[in-house]
Amino acid sequence: MTFNKGFKKWDRPYLFHDLEVTLRSMPEKKRNNIVRLAIGDPDLPTPEGIKEALCRSVRSKYYGYPCTQGRIDLREAIVEYYQKRFKVMVHPDEIIIGPGAKTDLFDLGQVFSNPGNQAMILDPAYPVYCDTALYHGLNPIYLKGSESNNYQPPIPSDIDISSTDLIFSCYPNNPTGVTASRSYIKELLEFAISSKSMLIFDIAYADFIPGAGTSEAFSVFNLPGAEEVGIEVGSFSKPFSMTGYRISWTVIKNPIARQQWLRFRSNKDSGVSDHIQTAAFHALTDSFVAQDVVHNMKIYGERASLLVNGLRELGLMVRDLKNTPYAWFSSPISDSKLAAKIILEKALVQVTPGVGFGSAGEGFLRATIFQSDELIEEALSRLKTIHLSEYINAENTDAV
Ligand code: MLT
Repeated sequence: MTFNKGFKKWDRPYLFHDLEVTLRSMPEKKRNNIVRLAIGDPDLPTPEGIKEALCRSVRSKYYGYPCTQGRIDLREAIVEYYQKRFKVMVHPDEIIIGPGAKTDLFDLGQVFSNPGNQAMILDPAYPVYCDTALYHGLNPIYLKGSESNNYQPPIPSDIDISSTDLIFSCYPNNPTGVTASRSYIKELLEFAISSKSMLIFDIAYADFIPGAGTSEAFSVFNLPGAEEVGIEVGSFSKPFSMTGYRISWTVIKNPIARQQWLRFRSNKDSGVSDHIQTAAFHALTDSFVAQDVVHNMKIYGERASLLVNGLRELGLMVRDLKNTPYAWFSSPISDSKLAAKIILEKALVQVTPGVGFGSAGEGFLRATIFQSDELIEEALSRLKTIHLSEYINAENTDAV
């Protein structure tokens, strides 16, 4: 038996699978009592208009294979979304519907790279960026984010520009929640242009920025030059509670790049089910769904205050939680994996260790607001009982 050499480069398990396995290995009674604040999986139900559209579609028509690029009505709805949200003109031909942003991101790593070259990756970051780079034989160059550079790390001046293929970025950022300045993304874009690499801009959390057309809510295509090297990845998962539906989109304006991507996609899968695309179309076009999304975002905003204030009362340093479903906070002990383990075992609360997003995430933990007020309050009161502040800076965790 032989394996792709890329497997050997993975020196850690996939973060979210690992968290799931940890839960599954627990006795059922204990597992059912865990407050899960680790994976970013919305708890609020998918809006009725989306579910109804899906059911109607399944009942009314047999579709067979979908079109690889995606339905024209859905792509037109995305065009309109870009106009309203970002004031950006996108053509339906420039949009390719995909089977989930995670899959798109991993696959982009294969299409726009050659083994031995390099990928620039923000650290901390969604682990798929690093894993796709390693798997496809790219050498990762980590841009180390920190509180002091506000998780918008500068590009090292000594970087070899000739061998960079890809730059991965995500704002509003997962896991830190930072909303990037346009000037920072412009810097990444200018580097992509000069190094002839592609800039991947993951906007999975864009809809957590309230209000359309604000200066914070921007698409990479708001910036000149992105039409050459920009690839934007959008997701229906979080704003519409559609994680299980598996549907996303990419926008690529460069016709040669787009052709390659489409060629790849048409080999790799047969497009996203027409029924799921119908549901996604309604997500973007149904006015009742829009009202539900506004309502849900308000709930998330209230939970954000609850979670952040509660964590601060426990003596932890927490970033302001705005434009994001994640609280990024200091770990009571520097080993974030150990901290997450202690919290899980002692408080029955699951949070994500920052190091799972890269070494620059060490010393931090991430918690989501995708649980009810009651469960967030329960998690906070459990954390209180284990006296987290006593662990702060304590090297000795024998007390654990
Ligand atoms: C997260 O929790 O960071 C991610 O959203 C999980 C995922 O989308 O794979």
